[in-house]
Order: sequence, then C-alpha cells, then structure tokens
Amino acid sequence: MAEEAILRYLEKNVEISDSGLFAHEFGLDHNEVVNIIKSLNGFRYVDAEDIKKEKWTLTGEGESYAATGSPEVQLLLAIPPEGIPREELQKKLGPSVFKIGCAQAAKNKWVEMGKQLISRKVQHVDDKVKNLLLQIKDGKEIHDDDVKALKARKLIVSQTWKGYSVKKGPSYAPRRKKAATDLTRENLQRGDWRELEFKEYNFNAKGQPLECGHFHPLLKVRQQLKNIFRQMGFEEMPTNNFVESSFWNFDALFQPQQHPARDAHDTFFLQAPSSTKELPEDYVERVKQVHENGGYGSKGYGYDWKREEANKNLLRTHTTAVSSRMLYLLARKPFAPKKYFSIDRVFRNEAVDRTHLAEFHQIEGLICDRGLTLGDLIGVLYDFFSRLGMSKLRFKPAYNPYTEPSMEIFSYHEGFKKWVEVGNSGMFRPEMLRPMGLPEDVRVIAWGLSLERPTMILYGVDNIRDLFGHKVDLGLMKKNPICRLGIDAC
Ligand code: PHE
Repeated sequence: MAEEAILRYLEKNVEISDSGLFAHEFGLDHNEVVNIIKSLNGFRYVDAEDIKKEKWTLTGEGESYAATGSPEVQLLLAIPPEGIPREELQKKLGPSVFKIGCAQAAKNKWVEMGKQLISRKVQHVDDKVKNLLLQIKDGKEIHDDDVKALKARKLIVSQTWKGYSVKKGPSYAPRRKKAATDLTRENLQRGDWRELEFKEYNFNAKGQPLECGHFHPLLKVRQQLKNIFRQMGFEEMPTNNFVESSFWNFDALFQPQQHPARDAHDTFFLQAPSSTKELPEDYVERVKQVHENGGYGSKGYGYDWKREEANKNLLRTHTTAVSSRMLYLLARKPFAPKKYFSIDRVFRNEAVDRTHLAEFHQIEGLICDRGLTLGDLIGVLYDFFSRLGMSKLRFKPAYNPYTEPSMEIFSYHEGFKKWVEVGNSGMFRPEMLRPMGLPEDVRVIAWGLSLERPTMILYGVDNIRDLFGHKVDLGLMKKNPICRLGIDAC
C-alpha cells in the first residue's frame, strides 16, 4: 500500500518533500512509510535524505488540561457570582488545581483574592491554554511566545521528529521488481533467466541459529581428559555403580572402620538396600586380618574388624572404590601391567558452598606394574598435567590411609600468580595390594583430582553452583564455545 503510494507519487512528482506530511495526506502510518523508504533507498529505487524537526508534545499535565481545561478556567467556573470562601473552593477543586488556578487567574486579573472570599472580576473567558494544547496535539504550529509560556509551565516538551525527503533513485521503477533468489530449472527452460534480476548475496547475513543439543562444559573437559588418558595408553574403568559397599569404598583400601570420613557426616549411607549381599569371602577374610593384625611387614590397626560395618551400602565417596575392585580383578589373573583411568561422579555429605557440592566428579589414574617407584609417579604426573597445560608442578607430603608415600600436587597458576592445589596422589600400600593377591614386587602408583576445578578455571566460572545443579543457567551450555583452542587449565 504505502510502497505503491510512494512509487506512484514519484512517477508524477519530482519529490516527496516531507514523509510526515505525505503520510498525513495519504492517511498512512508514518513509521510504515519510513520503513518502506529505507528499504527502497537500499535498493536505489529512491534517494532519501534525512529531515529532523523539533516537535512539541504534551506532558501528562498538558494532556490532562487539554482534556478538562486549564486550572485557571476550572477555578473561574467554580466561583459562584457571590464569591466563595478559599477553603471551600480548594475543597471543590483539589489542592493542585486550586493552587495553580489561583496563581494563573490572579496573574490574568480574572479574580479578586479577598481575605475571606474569592470572587470573579470577569464573567467570560476563553480557555486559551486548552486551545493551544489542542492545536499542538493536532500538529499545528503555534506562536513562539505561546510555545515559551507552555514550556515554562511544563505543559509541553520538545521531541526530535525524524523523517525523509525522497526523490527518484537510479533504479527507480513505478513497481518494485522482485529480485529472484534462486535460478530454477523452469527459469532455464523458459529462458526467462535472461530478464531476471537476481538478489545479491549478503555475505554479512548471519546463519539461522542451530537447533541442536549442547555439551555441558564438564562433558567437554571430560572428553579432553579421556583423550589425554587414551593418548597415554590408559584404559577406562567401568564406573557405572554409584552405590558401593563400605567394603570396596573403605575396607579394601585399608581405611580403618573408625575413620572419621566413614561416619555419616561425610558419607551418604543407603537405607534400602542398607547392606550388600555378596562379597568375595576369602578376600574379605584377608582384609579383616590385615586391619586387625597386619602382615606383609605391617602391624595393622589392632582393632576388632566388624563385617556389618563393611556390608553397609553407601554412595561412593571416591572413584578409588572402582580402582580397588579393578585391582582385585586384575589379581585373579596371571599378572600383566595395566594403566587404568576413570572419570565419574562421587558423593560426599558436605555443606554446599561456592566451591563444594555434595556430588562432584573425580578423575583418577593408576598404573600397576612391577618395581614402580615414586620417581615413576612424579614422571607420570608431569606428563599428565603438562598435557593439561600445567607444566610447573610441586609436591607436598600428605596422608591417605591407602597410599604411602602420599603427595598433594600443586601447580603454578600463571593467571592467579600462585601455587594452587590440583590433585592428590600416592603409591598404594602393600596392606591394600597384597591381600588382593597381587605379587609382592607389583606396585601401583595413582592420582586423583576433581573435574569441576579445572572446568571452572577453563570456563571462568567462580561459583560451582553456576556449573552444576539446579541453579545452572541453561544458556551457559548454549553460549560456551564448541571447542577451546589451546589448553590453558592452570
Ligand atoms: N581418592 C583420593 C581422593 O578422594 C584421590 C587419590 C586417588 C589419592 C588415588 C591417591 C591415589 O581425594
């Protein structure tokens, strides 16, 4: 409609001097006219030039006077011929209309402000203010002095109005040709491709957003770690059992039954089924022996080991529970060296804060071979962590019930300019390995770390609850990059 009107008009006239007046004259919406002019200008059908004008519009107060009359006229009309006491008039009009009305009417000398009574000095007045406001509303020009007065009373404000003046452009035609977007078989057969005008490619146009799934940052970092482990020749352990018995989670790892980590503050125990049905009995017996009396050069803990305690089911507190099962299975067969890894979920009954959740993911690696030393462990840790971008490492002696020696791993963080703890490691104790039946000279070196920590550093998330759990913004998944180039974890 508007497009046709514009192009037709230019067929017979030199220009549209003001898009606003044009829209008014043809009963069109000015916004629509402006959009069409912009589009026609883009295709060079027309040449458009900006025009800007200061336009006056009514304020809220101005609008209300345009509807109900100016306060001074309202005031005058409310005064009876015999006059009226102030208070009564104020009650009739309300405080604001009364106050403004009095001031203006007194200025115009319309009223007598007596001590007791307010009375009229004139009988008939025109509501000039109301009339001026209505004219402005209609888009009419009014005298400069009147504009000044209305502006001073804050009844009108200026607004910049934008429109166009329009002339024929180099590609002017009385009708817009629809540019073809495709060359079809029919175009070729009919031969009309010769006349067709083709739409130009817009190389700046963005593609349609892809409707697809998105990986969570934890999954991306997990994949990266899996690749690293596989490149280093590690096999993945099956971690598909969140429920574990205390036996595999603690006892097999030579963790004493009175150990504080075992009690309900740190561990989620299961109510149903509350205990495990099956454990390898002869191995259980050897574990009991080593806890109570030691062996293999150890004194043991010298306490009464209780089977009921070992039977209790729990949500595994570390993936080392999986490692203990796998090493036990390895010991069932003629010995062959192994490199194992796992990355999966663990559970701890901890207070949730910005760095702790009650469930998180652990990364664990272990190597089982004859005659391994602490030097091998340190070497493997350098290899592993440097593949994650952490090549400056330091080790600090630590304690785990199942490793001796044990070392915490620190890495120098170039961004934070300090050493940060990145993992825990050690050599599994003979008290753990020998009851399983592994040969005497077989050593197992192992390390573990959380998946959340490097992920938070890599993706710049500083509250773990923004990364995992019910408060996560799903936009995080959509917005984070598909892949990061370069590995710069810590
Ligand atoms: N299981 C340990 C933890 O939960 C990590 C670890 C794994 C330590 C293997 C030493 C060896 O922190």
